[in-house]
Amino acid sequence: MIAGQTLRTTVVTRDPESTRALAASLAAAAQPGDLISLVGDLGAGKTQFAKGFGAALGVTDTIVSPSFVLMAEYRGRLPMFHIDLYRLADAAEAMAGGLIDERQAEGVTLVEWAERLADAMPAERLDVLIDGTGDDPRRITLVAEGPGYARYMQALAAAATATGAKESGR
Ligand SMILES: Nc1ncnc2c1ncn2[C@@H]1O[C@H](COP(=O)(O)OP(=O)(O)OP(=O)(O)O)[C@@H](O)[C@H]1O
Ligand SMILES: [Mg+2]
Repeated sequence: MIAGQTLRTTVVTRDPESTRALAASLAAAAQPGDLISLVGDLGAGKTQFAKGFGAALGVTDTIVSPSFVLMAEYRGRLPMFHIDLYRLADAAEAMAGGLIDERQAEGVTLVEWAERLADAMPAERLDVLIDGTGDDPRRITLVAEGPGYARYMQALAAAATATGAKESGR
């Protein structure tokens, strides 16, 4: 990574509605081909994030974890592809299962348990790292990996001005 191309910020949310609202703010920046990696423990809020993101894209279908299929597709302003790698044995299995699909170039792809893909995950993406489970507040760290993803930080800054929810640059 070239210095200056990684942008990082942390937001604290205290309820699932706030996590969904954060995701909705970010969805304003979504463009075709975008990739969002959702990382956090069981019950951290990755699917809550996907629900908020999808709602802001205009997805009207109910978004649930795609437990029995590797990928679910929803219609919105852009197509949204929702992948859950929890049951994945290894990256090779994902590739064999057609995880990277040419249709994703036309939409935005959200990947739960993205760390299971390790180096097979494209390097340019938005990382959403969710720390906390249960009733605890969530520390949600957003990392723009690659210059194209800085626009998510701009969308967040615009929304944070309105809500006052943002913590400064950590
Ligand atoms: N601040 C918060 N943000 C998100 N979810 C929260 C928050 N506080 C409590 N919760 C609760 O935590 C749970 C998060 O569940 P969710 O399915 O989104 O997790 P997940 O990370 O997708 O888990 P899994 O790895 O099992 O797919 C929900 O029951 C939600 O109501
Ligand atoms: Mg989930």
